[in-house]
Amino acid sequence: MANVLIIDDDQGMCGMMVELVKNMGHKAVYSTTLNQGLEKAIRGDFDVVFLDVLMPDGNGLEALATIREVKSAPEVIIITGAGTSDGAEIAIKNGAWDYLQKPLSPKKIMLPLSRVFQYRDSLKKKPRPPVALKLPGIVGSSSSIRERYDLLAQAANSNANVLISGETGTGKELFAKAIHLNSNCAQKKMVVVDCAALPESLIESSLFGHEKGAFTGADRSRDGLIKMADGGTLFLDEIGELGSLLQKTFLRVLQERKFRPVGGEDEIYSNFRLIAATNKNLETMAEQGTFRKDLLYRLQSVVLELPPLRDRREDIKEITVHHVTKICDRYGTETKGFSTDFFQVLQEYDWHGNVRELTNALESAISAAFYEPILFPKHLPMNIRVKMARASVNDSSVGMMSENLLDTNRLKRTVVPPYRDFRDSILEGPERKYFKDLMALTRGNVSEACRISGLGRTWLYKVLKKYNIEKNNISLDDSHA
Ligand SMILES: Nc1ncnc2c1ncn2[C@@H]1O[C@H](COP(=O)(O)OP(=O)(O)OP(=O)(O)O)[C@@H](O)[C@H]1O
Ligand SMILES: [Mg+2]
Repeated sequence: MANVLIIDDDQGMCGMMVELVKNMGHKAVYSTTLNQGLEKAIRGDFDVVFLDVLMPDGNGLEALATIREVKSAPEVIIITGAGTSDGAEIAIKNGAWDYLQKPLSPKKIMLPLSRVFQYRDSLKKKPRPPVALKLPGIVGSSSSIRERYDLLAQAANSNANVLISGETGTGKELFAKAIHLNSNCAQKKMVVVDCAALPESLIESSLFGHEKGAFTGADRSRDGLIKMADGGTLFLDEIGELGSLLQKTFLRVLQERKFRPVGGEDEIYSNFRLIAATNKNLETMAEQGTFRKDLLYRLQSVVLELPPLRDRREDIKEITVHHVTKICDRYGTETKGFSTDFFQVLQEYDWHGNVRELTNALESAISAAFYEPILFPKHLPMNIRVKMARASVNDSSVGMMSENLLDTNRLKRTVVPPYRDFRDSILEGPERKYFKDLMALTRGNVSEACRISGLGRTWLYKVLKKYNIEKNNISLDDSHA
């Protein structure tokens, strides 16, 4: 027997629903105000709450999330006299079971109600054992990445085709591997096909295999990548790069899991699980006619969109610590510590190459600081420091000239590197070019170079040494390369 709560200011309606639920063999109570209803929901042990939207003391939709979070986690069915599609969307996105528009016939109420009962019964009968998700090499605990872990688990539990999208370096391949590892075909292979790297002339035979004698050099028959994925996972990376002919062929392979090897007469079968990845917007490509819509629909039974790193900056520290430990292990050195401003720069930077750019930056910081125990911003690659230095100059000059000076939060976020670092990062490129040009113009004649530049010999030699410019071995072409 289930417990139902009805929250509606229409007493007649409440009476009718209580009667109906009791006739179905369950218990029901009601409240005619939102506050009273909320109180009952919190104290009671309800399986289902019927919730009206326009109540004298508030809007039911605003109470939806609270009701969903009470201990018994009841399913909420919204009932409203003033239904709108926006309201319905908000309700469903906030976890409502259904959204019903009044007037309500008994049938209209009973149908969703019996489905809820069925659903809650099934949960009681088969409590799902909490399965620990394996996330090899994946770190991050921001709410947005945790949502992706849920989707990952969902994808791994089903056999549906999965499309992983996201900017470059967001971890698409890593997530694909994790789906495979958590799925029931984990014992079998995951075959990776990089659609961007398939050599044009060998595409078909690489994918579909070939029979002996199918073309010059085919001295024996060979399985293609699709057959190799039989029983396991086929990962089509960069699927946006697939040409139109192959898109068509693939559609058929996905529909039937059957294909014909090059030079073969019979079709062969491969029962693979498909994961595809792309950093392109396939919807737009489909609109523009460069990607088949029917193929796109097939691919995206489950869609996993990975967020860019700049949208989940909370994860930067965790990812950094993880990779620095890994890299130091690989180098066989003690793991490094971090200066506070090191993290500050990492937090501020926009990481358009996402986690890959971050890991590359860490790799280069560690080799720059090889014998030093602490990582400082000066160890980071020059391009990152230059960008940050430039940004900090713009910020603080605007800040000084305006009331933004009072915006302490913004100023706290502003990165001010040590002056020498800043000056070097701004000057080094142009300065090196100046001296290269100077030496090229004077064909290595130091006296002439001193005359033109107005510098003394000692100074000039010092700079040439700093930039490793050989005075006799330089041409103008060289300097502009
Ligand atoms: N959540 C994460 N935690 C730790 N490392 C990560 C995470 N996401 C990505 N990485 C690391 O970032 C790098 C890039 O990941 P991956 O190759 O999976 O990205 P991608 O989205 O496939 O990139 P591309 O579009 O360029 O192919 C790898 O070194 C991977 O280990
Ligand atoms: Mg990739």
